[in-house]
Amino acid sequence: MREKIGSDGLSAVLLTWYDVHAREMPWRVGPSDRAAGVRPDPYRVWLSEVMLQQTTVAAVRSYFRTFTERWPTVAHLAAAEDADVMAAWAGLGYYARARNLLKCARVVAHDFGGVFPGTAEDLRRLPGIGPYTSAAIAAIAFDQPETVVDGNVERVMARLHAVETPLPTAKAGLTQLAADLTPGARPGDYAQAVMDLGATVCTPRNPACGICPLVHSCAGRAAGIAAELPRKLPKKTKPTRLGYVYVLRNSAGDWLLETRPDKGLLGGMLGWPTSDWVEEAPTEAPPLPADWHDPRAEVRHTFTHFHLRLALRVAVSDAVPERGAFVPASAFSPASLPTVMRKAFDLARDPLDASVIDKK
Ligand code: ADE
Repeated sequence: MREKIGSDGLSAVLLTWYDVHAREMPWRVGPSDRAAGVRPDPYRVWLSEVMLQQTTVAAVRSYFRTFTERWPTVAHLAAAEDADVMAAWAGLGYYARARNLLKCARVVAHDFGGVFPGTAEDLRRLPGIGPYTSAAIAAIAFDQPETVVDGNVERVMARLHAVETPLPTAKAGLTQLAADLTPGARPGDYAQAVMDLGATVCTPRNPACGICPLVHSCAGRAAGIAAELPRKLPKKTKPTRLGYVYVLRNSAGDWLLETRPDKGLLGGMLGWPTSDWVEEAPTEAPPLPADWHDPRAEVRHTFTHFHLRLALRVAVSDAVPERGAFVPASAFSPASLPTVMRKAFDLARDPLDASVIDKK
């Protein structure tokens, strides 16, 4: 039987569940510390929420630790070199986030005296902070009754209310349902409780309804369709782009690298020179004339809007490059490369054994 309890009842049930089951996260002040009056550091909340956009908690943990050890406050981050921040971000993807992160840190440090504004409205005026992030920071760091809606929350709402309208059409309706459920008390804990429920219990596949605190109020469960929700409109198929990637050392063992222009994909990131990426017949564009070897290996990587396949070219040459610069091996760390460039490095190191690599 489905129980009819009001939205205050549902949020109270969820908060009680969160008091016991909150996940431990390095940026989080857990419910008992919070009840004892400990406030989260807005810098850490902001940093974690920017990192968590389109990235999992598991992937973010080590990056968060690295950033906060190296740049413990927004003033430290604001004073960092752009290239150091981009290198520390390498592997997290969506590099525009890192450029905006730095812009935002500088605005907060220089124009706000290092203090983050405390309302969603003011937060939204900062670089890189959209509706999701502003609501998340206002709720989590400042306990404002803002409604935080990510993919987890959409899924929980779609199931709880058996919403069969597919995403993205259903977005506005699901946001309204989430807003209706947001309590005036403990909104920061509540926002994190719904996200944790979605991440650990109300999971995309095989939801663990048997241990869900909301099971008796869940219309999707009652109708036997919880696991099918939210429905989604079919995704457009992604096109494939093709190109060449050039990995070159000189006789001293230095690597030829270039920093990509700020605008565009991988903007501001260090990488190997490449040709343009096009849908048909790419043109070779080596960074310098050399005896380029074709190891018959291809780097494959998927971006948000397309698949990319880059044919690898490797060479050793002491010629002066037309673009990029030689970086001594002692100053080069493959970890500072974005994933697609790291894949090229992995392939080029052993071009004879590797044919195709597509690990993410
Ligand atoms: N996903 C994004 N932000 C989160 C948070 N603060 N808690 C749990 N999951 C999240």
